[in-house]
Amino acid sequence: MTTDLLVARALTRRYGSLTAVDRVDLRVNAGERHALIGPNGAGKTTLLDLVGGATRPDGGRLHLAGRDITRLGPARRSRLGIGRIHQRPAVWPSLTALDNVIVAALPHRRVGPGRFHSRVRRPCLALLDEVGLTGGGTEAAAHLSHGQRRQLELAMALAGRPRLLLLDEPAAGLSAVEVHRLVDLLSSLPRTVAVLLVEHRLDLVYRLADRVTVLSDGRPVATGTPDEIRRSAAVRRAYAEAVG
Ligand SMILES: Nc1ncnc2c1ncn2[C@@H]1O[C@H](COP(=O)(O)OP(=O)(O)OP(=O)(O)O)[C@@H](O)[C@H]1O
Ligand SMILES: [Mg+2]
Repeated sequence: MTTDLLVARALTRRYGSLTAVDRVDLRVNAGERHALIGPNGAGKTTLLDLVGGATRPDGGRLHLAGRDITRLGPARRSRLGIGRIHQRPAVWPSLTALDNVIVAALPHRRVGPGRFHSRVRRPCLALLDEVGLTGGGTEAAAHLSHGQRRQLELAMALAGRPRLLLLDEPAAGLSAVEVHRLVDLLSSLPRTVAVLLVEHRLDLVYRLADRVTVLSDGRPVATGTPDEIRRSAAVRRAYAEAVG
């Protein structure tokens, strides 16, 4: 029996003459915390875009829980259980925080008349609390700080009850307190949710991840446990070449 949730085979994405993601094989097990690291421009966001469906591949295949999702658009993938937060938080600025979460939750719930409060509104409020946005979510998203918008986007992704959560630099721009809360939250997510995490802060990666894949110039150069990656010469080389 396999526990593979996500399987990417030879996934490729080109931009003109640049191959941003170059024949990448990647496996994420059900419930696994899998981190993607690598220098700027290594192809991490492009790979998340390919998994989430925002970008179409030029080659390769993607399977989610055994189903070929290569040709499905982002909305279908979201309904199949792929949630994501972006490198720049994507929220509806004119809606309140709570309404943002409700909008994200609705496509994932069948709700009859009269059940809206108990089945949608209340769980969405609870999610806002969980990510650290207290106060009932009455503030328009446009008025939230960058850190709060990140928290909101996380609540929106969780509202879809994902099996796979794609996180692109969730700690970027957060205060120390917010980072602390984020790490607590990600550590306490149930193992029904797998996480594919792009993060530059290696202290967080090593704390959260079960396995780490290192990308360099669109190619995976190493996959292993945090300990293996810390000791890997290939990883040190990839970073050294990128900075110098
Ligand atoms: N829409 C696009 N058009 C052209 N080139 C692109 C596009 N998106 C990404 N690229 C290029 O593809 C490569 C990979 O970019 P990507 O954003 O995936 O890197 P990254 O690993 O996420 O980097 P960072 O750590 O800086 O976020 C880069 O060279 C980038 O300039
Ligand atoms: Mg990126």
